[in-house]
Parts: sequence; C-alpha cells; structure tokens
Amino acid sequence: MAVIADRCPHIDVTVVDLNEARIAAWNDPDINQIPIYEPGLEAVVSRTRGRNLFFSTTVNAAISSADMVFISVNTPTKNKGIGAGQASDLRWVEACARQVAQHAQGHTVVIEKSTLPVRTAAVIKAILDTPQRKPKNNEILPTFSVLSNPEFLAEGSAIRDLEKPDRVLIGGDDAAAVDALATIYSHWVPSEKILRTNLWSSELSKLISNAFLAQRISSINSVAALCEATGADVHEVALAIGTDSRIGSKFLSAGPGFGGSCFKKDILNLVYLCRHFSLPEVADYWEQVIELNNWQKNRIAGLLVQRLFGTVTGKRLAILGFAFKADTNDTRESPAISISLDLLEEGAQLAIHDPKVDPSQIARDLKKSQSHSSAGLNGEGTWLFSSTVVEAVQDADAVLILTEWDQYRELNWKELAKIMRAPAWVLDTRSVVDPVEITEAGLHLWRLGEGAD
Ligand SMILES: NC(=O)c1ccc[n+]([C@@H]2O[C@H](COP(=O)([O-])OP(=O)(O)OC[C@H]3O[C@@H](n4cnc5c(N)ncnc54)[C@H](O)[C@@H]3O)[C@@H](O)[C@H]2O)c1
Repeated sequence: MAVIADRCPHIDVTVVDLNEARIAAWNDPDINQIPIYEPGLEAVVSRTRGRNLFFSTTVNAAISSADMVFISVNTPTKNKGIGAGQASDLRWVEACARQVAQHAQGHTVVIEKSTLPVRTAAVIKAILDTPQRKPKNNEILPTFSVLSNPEFLAEGSAIRDLEKPDRVLIGGDDAAAVDALATIYSHWVPSEKILRTNLWSSELSKLISNAFLAQRISSINSVAALCEATGADVHEVALAIGTDSRIGSKFLSAGPGFGGSCFKKDILNLVYLCRHFSLPEVADYWEQVIELNNWQKNRIAGLLVQRLFGTVTGKRLAILGFAFKADTNDTRESPAISISLDLLEEGAQLAIHDPKVDPSQIARDLKKSQSHSSAGLNGEGTWLFSSTVVEAVQDADAVLILTEWDQYRELNWKELAKIMRAPAWVLDTRSVVDPVEITEAGLHLWRLGEGAD
C-alpha cells in the first residue's frame, strides 16, 4: 500500500488495522520505529505518510469512503476444528467481508490481497451479496465486485519486488473492476506484466507459486545431505544444475530449512484442498515438501550435538541469526526456533544474536524467558540475548550460523577463536564464512552440503 501511495500521489491510501499498537507504531514520528524492518521501506513511508498514505484504526469510516478495499488480513493455519493443522483459518477474512458489506457506500471493488484457498472469492461474494442492513429512506444499497490480486513480494526484498515486479496478477470476471485495478498498477508496471485471469486461477496461482518455491528449497536441502554423504559439494552441484536455463539459478541455496509466515501454511492449505477434492496422491506429494523441511531442521540440531561429543548439556553455543532470512525482522516459522528448541531440550546454554530481531520476540518464540544466572548446571537448557557477536561467542564451544546476515560474512575469526573454548566448532548452515579463514584460525568447520573438514 505504501508503494501504491508512492507511485500514485493522486490516490489516497488508508491502511486500517484493529491492532492499535501496530497502527501507533506506523504513525510514530520517529521513522525508525515503524514495526517492520524492510530495506527501502522507511524512505517510501517517509515520502508518503501524511501526504496520501494514512494509518488508522477507524476501520468503518475508511470502508465507507473507499472505492476499493484490499483485504490483507492474516490467514494462518487453523489450529482446531475441521481441517485443523492444514486448512486456512478464514475467520478474519470473513469478518472483514461482513464489515465491508455493512459499511460500504455506492459501488466498491473488494480485492483479495491475502493468500486464500481457491474459491474463497465465492464466499466473500456470498457475504457481500447478502444485504447486511435495511435501506434507510431512499438509500441505494451498496454493490460490489470481487477481484483476486495476490501478493508476490518476498520479505527482505519487498520494496524492490513491488517496484519492479516480475508480474502483477489480477483475477476477476468484472472487466471494469479489473481495468480499474490494472490502471493503478500501470502507473509503474509495464502493461505486459499485468496478467489477467479468472478468479480461481489467480487464487490458486499464489498457492502454487509458494509451493514450487518451497519445493526447490526442500529439493536442494535433500541434495545437500546426499552431498555430505558422498563428497560432492552442494554449491558445485547447484551451480552445475542452475546454469541449465530450464532449471535456473535462483532458490538453489541449501540452508537450515525454509521459514517465514507463508510457505508452510500455504502448502498445508494446498494439501488440505487436494484432500478435500479427493486427490490424496497429490496431497501426499506436496506434503513431502514440508516433511523434508522438518527433517532438515532436526538434522542440523542433531549434527551439532554429534560434533560436540554427543552432548551439549551445559555447553555454551552461540546462535548467529534468528530471523528466518536476512534483511527482515520476521521470525515466523524461522528454522532458528525449532533448532534452538531442540538444543534447549538437550540442555544447551544458548547465546543468541540477531541484528534486527528483538529479544522479546525470541522469548515469545521459544516460550521461555532469558536466563542471566549461571543456570544450566542442573541440565536445564537456557538462553540469553547477546547484543554483539563477540558477546555471543565468548566462551562458546560452537557457533551456529542460521541467518545469512551480511555482517556474518565479515567476522574476524582469528579474534573470535581466541575467546572460544577449544576444540571449538563453526557450523555454517548458510555458507557465509570463508572456510580458509576458519581453519587458519584453528577452528573446526562444518558447512551444510560439504561435510566436516
Ligand atoms: N508476509 C508476507 O511476506 C506475505 C507475502 C505475500 C502474501 N502474504 C499474505 O498476506 C496476508 C497477510 O500477511 P501478513 O504477513 O501481513 O500478516 P500479519 O498477521 O502480519 O498482518 C495481518 C494484520 O491484519 C489485522 N487484522 C485482522 N483482522 C482484521 C480486521 N477485521 N480488520 C482490520 N485489520 C485486521 C491484524 O491485526 C494484523 O495486523 C496473509 O494472507 C499472507 O499469506 C504475506
């Protein structure tokens, strides 16, 4: 929405949210306090906020005055009832549709921006087409068009992805509404990149796009394990296969497993839909992408324990990176969570560093507060936040790199080796360190997809 406001100064964009604290943070006079860390976002918000981009909690008023409403609410996996653990929980989408039906005036184009199960537009249409209020005097009841316009941005590169998208997808059967939305994007997106499809193709394409991306990560992670067992090098294999133009070079970096708020929930949703439409083999096929991801996360924790003579109880381990990838402060489904939990279960003392993630978020993710005492002697796992890498690495038996932050590429391993407890290990799941520097510093190295030195 910030990018739309930036590129279309003649359009007023109001972002409304029920969460007052979040809206207050978006309105914070100190631009550094906006709640999402994303390269380039501060500049866009600085240019537009108060000009034609507004953040507010007055949802009903914003709906009444809008020509278009983008439904961008959360669609997490259901945690109870029918489809629990797989289906999307659509309660926020439904609540939004009802609220729009009640407060809209005139003709309103309602746009699905959230990632939704295929055929959700039918549900939204049914709600919107049911009169939610009795007309007062000569009032003309509102009318609606529903479009699907899924979001393909990736966290960490969101502004770049929005400013130069590979494509914009608009699904719908009301040509005038589709044209109106396409006109907005046409202010900065070339017309050949604005794809028009029917509603169902658009809804389904977003799920399939995420499923294909996650599948590539699980595929290369499975190959990484095979490389470790055979002496092949996953970076060389990735280069060799990625230069085939039919395969392509992107999304071929082996790592600790995919995270983020979308891949897992969207594939689970796809699996649920396949079962619902009586396609169990198709469901099993996609489910395997998630199973491999879970296996990869467990494998990393297991490998670390194995390297440290089979036990990490009471040992200090430095975890570098908690965000699910670099350039974001988002930790949702971050592999660092399950890997840390596995190590805490083994009784490790974790010193966690991340340049952008707040320690309070880590405490929520691990469901455990920081421990500053010399705990761990009774075998219980503990963690504490370190504001510098040096602080995290002090007295550690091992350093585990989980996020590919640029600053981890430039660490002085000769100096760090001096403050670690020998025999000390570096386990690099993101291939950010220079192997020569590590071994010259007298440290043992394990890199994903290459095996030990
Ligand atoms: N995060 C991503 O990278 C990404 C990328 C593409 C698509 N998506 C999709 O976008 C959607 C939102 O994702 P997100 O990461 O921004 O989720 P989020 O949970 O960070 O934000 C959703 C917001 O909606 C608000 N909300 C819920 N119900 C509301 C209502 N009735 N009225 C007003 N506000 C309400 C919540 O308070 C919350 O702040 C999801 O469907 C997701 O799959 C996300």
